[in-house]
Amino acid sequence: MKVKMSKKIPTNPYRTDLARIFRYFTMFIFFALFLQTIRKMNLLAIESSCDETSAAVMVDGVLKSNVISTQLIHTEWGGVVPELASREHQKAIIPVVTEALQKANINKNELNAIAFTRGPGLLGALLVGTSFAKSLSLALNIPLIEVNHMQAHVLAHFIEDPKPQFPFLCLTVSGGHTQLVWVKDALHMEVIGETQDDAVGEAFDKTAKLIGLPYPGGPLIDKLAKEGNPDRFPFSLGEMPGLNFSFSGIKTQILYFLQKETQKNPQFVEENKADICASVQKSLIDMLLRKVKKAMREKSCKQIAIAGGVSANSGLRSRLSEMGEKEGWDVFIPAFQYCTDNAGMIAMAGHFKYEAGEFTNQDVTPLARYNL
Ligand code: KG4
Ligand code: ZN
Repeated sequence: MKVKMSKKIPTNPYRTDLARIFRYFTMFIFFALFLQTIRKMNLLAIESSCDETSAAVMVDGVLKSNVISTQLIHTEWGGVVPELASREHQKAIIPVVTEALQKANINKNELNAIAFTRGPGLLGALLVGTSFAKSLSLALNIPLIEVNHMQAHVLAHFIEDPKPQFPFLCLTVSGGHTQLVWVKDALHMEVIGETQDDAVGEAFDKTAKLIGLPYPGGPLIDKLAKEGNPDRFPFSLGEMPGLNFSFSGIKTQILYFLQKETQKNPQFVEENKADICASVQKSLIDMLLRKVKKAMREKSCKQIAIAGGVSANSGLRSRLSEMGEKEGWDVFIPAFQYCTDNAGMIAMAGHFKYEAGEFTNQDVTPLARYNL
């Protein structure tokens, strides 16, 4: 009987080698992907839109440092002088960035991205931060992220808890803007109302100038208002259609009022400073809150946030909280250090953009006007 032997198939040495190479390659890819997920994302952010030079470091969305250098040179001029602002930014930017990196315990070579304020703001001032960010991105070969300053003011609410849920309404009140913003998500916002002339911060600063207080007058009016009677000098509030604001009328009213009273009594301002501050502050807050209430109703919204330099105002903070309690709203008020201009908020916006893969290239230029 013949036994049929099974034919031995010779193994192909190249085939086993290929299988082994493929196996190692797959393991390598998985390992690289794993490293990618545990690798920290170190982001440097720069703010230079007005009279604050600021740098911040954020690691995986957590703020590690936020260094702010406020330019004091403008005090003697009674307002920000654009040319002086850009020169001061040039002097401060390297020390401020160095300090931010040191405080965060991060070496510049460990940075993974750099975010900067593209606008709105003073062109010469923005140019310093933009050029610095572009150069550093080129030198370190890391991505560049441009940030809208007004968007960043709103996103300052995501630096610390409690954080609002999308969508929500934000009243952004600064030296250059007064806006009611419908915040759909971190990168999609719509301005549903805004000032048609002066910003509310400007109204604070101009009133302060009229009564002889130095720039920026907002915080000083706030301080004096605490000791004054807010009902002593009622100023009439003009009405703007819809959700828009106007602050130029009240400014003129204050000017004429002070001129008339000082003609009768040259010591009027000195004798009534606290009452003037309290009355002006009350009128400005009334104007803001009237539109907030209207917008909240129109949007059937239950969450209100405030942002920008004027959100540091103690009167606005307490009256909005009271209104929120009465109306059943959740009120979000930022910590003081995130109200006025700071790079921490630029880092927060940069973080959201990094996650969304929104980068910019070396052709980017600053914008004095930059819509949301
Ligand atoms: O957001 P910000 O620092 O800069 C801009 O983007 O404009 O806002 C600056 C404005 C100034 O008009 C300043 O007077 C005002 O914010 N401000 C205040 C207070 N702190 C800052 N206004 C009223 N009360 C305050 N406590
Ligand atoms: Zn600002």
